[in-house]
Amino acid sequence: MDNFTFWNPTKLIFGKNQLEQLKAEIPQYGKKVLLVFGGGSIKQSGLFDKVIQNLNEIDVQLFELPGVEPNPRIATARKGIEICKKEGIDFILAVGGGSVIDCTKLIAAGSKYDGDAWDLVVKKSFATDAIPFGTVLTLAATGSEMNAGSVITNWETNEKYGWGSAVTYPKFSILDPVNTFTVPRNQTIYGMVDMMVHVLEHYFHLEENTLLQDRMCESLLITVIETAPKLLNDLEDYENRATILYNGTMALNGMISMGYQGDWATHNLEHAVSAVYDIPHGGGLAILFPHWMEHNLKVKPERFKQLAVRVFGVNPEGKSDEEVGLEGIQKLRDFWTGIGAPARLADYDIDDSQLDLMADKAMVNGEFGNFKKLNREDVLAIYRASL
Ligand code: NZQ
Ligand code: ZN
Repeated sequence: MDNFTFWNPTKLIFGKNQLEQLKAEIPQYGKKVLLVFGGGSIKQSGLFDKVIQNLNEIDVQLFELPGVEPNPRIATARKGIEICKKEGIDFILAVGGGSVIDCTKLIAAGSKYDGDAWDLVVKKSFATDAIPFGTVLTLAATGSEMNAGSVITNWETNEKYGWGSAVTYPKFSILDPVNTFTVPRNQTIYGMVDMMVHVLEHYFHLEENTLLQDRMCESLLITVIETAPKLLNDLEDYENRATILYNGTMALNGMISMGYQGDWATHNLEHAVSAVYDIPHGGGLAILFPHWMEHNLKVKPERFKQLAVRVFGVNPEGKSDEEVGLEGIQKLRDFWTGIGAPARLADYDIDDSQLDLMADKAMVNGEFGNFKKLNREDVLAIYRASL
């Protein structure tokens, strides 16, 4: 196990009727509040009115930035930064899914930066300060509610990159499973795939002696596998929504990341696809991850075997590690297609016409991945297999 330091300053507020905590949290940071939200789901669900009701009960001056897109765009973050700089915003409240939260992180840091915020995304410059912000999460998926990461798209240049900084952890995040009842079936599925792939990106590493970390990862995966069919049977089941919401946060808040380095190549591969085609992140991962696994099975077959046996109950008797590993990969694919996730890029009408462009995007910083460094040929092979 590697040395590690764990630090996560986000206050997690979880459960029913927790929205009124806004009244205790926000006044600590000031009076001018920018409310950031997406394309309208919070207005339809009634959450917007409830947030406003709570904010009206404290002494704040409210500004709004609606319309953050799924796969949030730099242009929208720039709009938010303009408001913050012009109005002297003290605190930002993100109400939405990962996209709204990621956009808020860039607004928060970009408002304290003199240059163009895209510099922070492409790591030309590093954020050293940010306007404090909190979140009300409405979709279980990214873990953005309790991590410092943010993924931003530049639609003019077809670029999508992740960035983050110690100053971009939310001060608090309110997670009420009831606020996820209205997440449509497809987004619910993408969210569950995303959190599983976050765990799997951790799971494939080259470190020795990660017994506890492995068991934690396996628990998160098994929990989604057990809960997904029940949740999809009743999208308004509180307990199942709660389990998945908690699972998504735990998959990417650093709790399972201690003492080793995960792979993360497939996230890079997916970001390159959605930079060109604007597809949902979880959908892209469901297609690409099994192909990444098949491509890298030989790197450390015993890891794939462990996953197959412990998570998918594959019987290893009389089989090689690779055979067991392959069965596990097939079971993972079957699970995802069984709950309704896509299996091929063709499901999003993606053909081979932009493979080179996608590979260029994926390779922008050279070879990538910690379990196995992928070069351009690897990238193209995985994309081709995914068509
Ligand atoms: O925009 P609105 O109207 O709110 O609708 C959204 C959006 O259309 C809708 N939605 C959200 N909550 C809802 C709801 N609809 C009904 N009821 C609700 N309660 O769902 C759609 C998708 O929302 P989005 O925020 O885009 O989804 P998600 O949370 O999956 O975020 C995806 C983004 O996060 C990035 C992805 O790349 C993508 O850009 N990621 C961020 C990470 C991080 N910060 O740590 C890690 C991830 O790996 C990921 O890359
Ligand atoms: Zn993800």
